[in-house]
Amino acid sequence: MYKKIIVFEGVDGTGKSYHINQVAKFLKSKKIKFIKFREPGGSSNSEIIRKIILKNNSSLSKESDLLLYLAARKENYDKLIKPNLKKKIILIDRFVDSTIAYQHYGQKINLKLINNLNNFVLKGLTISHTFLLKIDKKNLKKRLKRKNKNRYDSFDIKFYTSVQNGYIKLLKKNFTKYTLINSNLPKNINEKLVLSKISKIIKK
Ligand code: TYD
Repeated sequence: MYKKIIVFEGVDGTGKSYHINQVAKFLKSKKIKFIKFREPGGSSNSEIIRKIILKNNSSLSKESDLLLYLAARKENYDKLIKPNLKKKIILIDRFVDSTIAYQHYGQKINLKLINNLNNFVLKGLTISHTFLLKIDKKNLKKRLKRKNKNRYDSFDIKFYTSVQNGYIKLLKKNFTKYTLINSNLPKNINEKLVLSKISKIIKK
């Protein structure tokens, strides 16, 4: 019943962390066991890798970046995902789709290579459901300004538009496994939508 992997995706500033936290509260109130982590980050080794990737003035190449995201993911697979797979709901703030959206659609790294690396690390793991949070250009500009600066926050709006369009392509390929959330709408409206979908997913 509870063997689900639920992922939250979307460009920076769309409110993924807010919704994943609300879902965590909801599951807690229902006494449903879950774990929750973010990428990059998660396991203790992955959090160390996160610091290297997101350092303000990091001079890493985009290829080194890609390999670090995957190294962090491998640590999460071994230390967090595999041991909990049959036991708990797994909530993840960014996962495989972030790498395809940012490193392929944003940074133009070969898609086949990214897919191969993800398959190598995750061994055919299936994601039960993805919430994709989308935002229009005007709001994206506003929210990016508000956010703390990390290296991806210094990219321009064109970059984020390509990333977001990439996410939409992934959704269109497999739309039954996605819920599109319009982050231009008020949080409380979206929260109801997310929690009602979560209720259905956990009953399956
Ligand atoms: P973070 O501050 O956690 O972003 P947010 O709070 O908006 O989720 O920074 C994570 C950054 O890492 C974000 O800009 C997207 C990027 N990223 C990739 O480029 N590829 C990946 O595979 C992952 C997991 C994240």
